[in-house]
Amino acid sequence: MKVLGLVGSVRKSGNTEILTKEALMGAEAEGASVEILRLTDYEVRPCRGCAACLFREEGCVIEDDANKIFAAMAASDGIILGVPCYILEATAVVKQLIDRGFAPMQQNTVRGKVGGVIVPYATRGWTQNAFQQTNTWLLSLGVEVIDQLLIHVQGISEAPLFPRDIERAHTLGKRVAQAIKTGEHTYHGEAGICPICHDRNLRILQDMETVECPVCAVRGTLKIEGKKIKVMFTDEAIKRHRWSIENLQRHFNYHLKPSKDFFIKTKEERKKLTGKYRSYLEGQ
Ligand SMILES: Cc1cc2nc3c(=O)[nH]c(=O)nc-3n(C[C@H](O)[C@H](O)[C@H](O)COP(=O)(O)O)c2cc1C
Repeated sequence: MKVLGLVGSVRKSGNTEILTKEALMGAEAEGASVEILRLTDYEVRPCRGCAACLFREEGCVIEDDANKIFAAMAASDGIILGVPCYILEATAVVKQLIDRGFAPMQQNTVRGKVGGVIVPYATRGWTQNAFQQTNTWLLSLGVEVIDQLLIHVQGISEAPLFPRDIERAHTLGKRVAQAIKTGEHTYHGEAGICPICHDRNLRILQDMETVECPVCAVRGTLKIEGKKIKVMFTDEAIKRHRWSIENLQRHFNYHLKPSKDFFIKTKEERKKLTGKYRSYLEGQ
């Protein structure tokens, strides 16, 4: 059993690295072998948008370190992702890897791994999208996130000053290892609203009746009971969430890949029409 820690902060021995290492110690205590990668130590270039990965079995054409990160994820049974909250969200390296995840998303090399997420943050009320990208990355790859922690810790390397938070990170690591061992993938994190990612963000759709998790696209309705808001999702809606293997295959096979025919058919017309944009402001 192998558990991989991924650190999404540039700070060496910062809070994210400390809490991720503590979680790995928890996984080790349950018998896991562990490894850690600091994501920003690797060269991860932006997705070029060339779409080659839609048609090439080998995946992305860019030769940098992204494939090493995805290969390490594929070679593990569990993944503990630590990412500090930066300006309400995850750090930029996570978005870079989400975009580069198009190939492993189709190859399903990471699908079925057990995940845990740790987000250290400094300011209460400044974390609204903290799990949005960590969840998008892991769920899009098919990782089953069984625990997630938001940990308040402000200054550099202060995490060890708070034994309760250290203990929570340790427990998260143990839970990831236990879930791998038992195959029991029940979610242990704080209860949220979305039944898939467990976050509390909801969009109100234009019909002003339907709400939707922006990450998982699960749609539900609101009900007021007494003074409490209730959000209801049907079993059918939950099954149709964005990251189900059926939905992802439909996305690639019916929405993305067929666009190739139109692209080829319109080659000459596009060449003619885009000329004025190619030359506009060139050499300024
Ligand atoms: C550029 C930058 C932006 C940040 N933005 C937020 C934020 O929006 N919300 C928040 O709660 N903390 C924010 N923080 C604080 C960090 O999340 C917090 O200090 C965390 O413990 C850092 O972890 P690290 O030591 O592993 O980098 C920010 C820190 C930096 C450097």
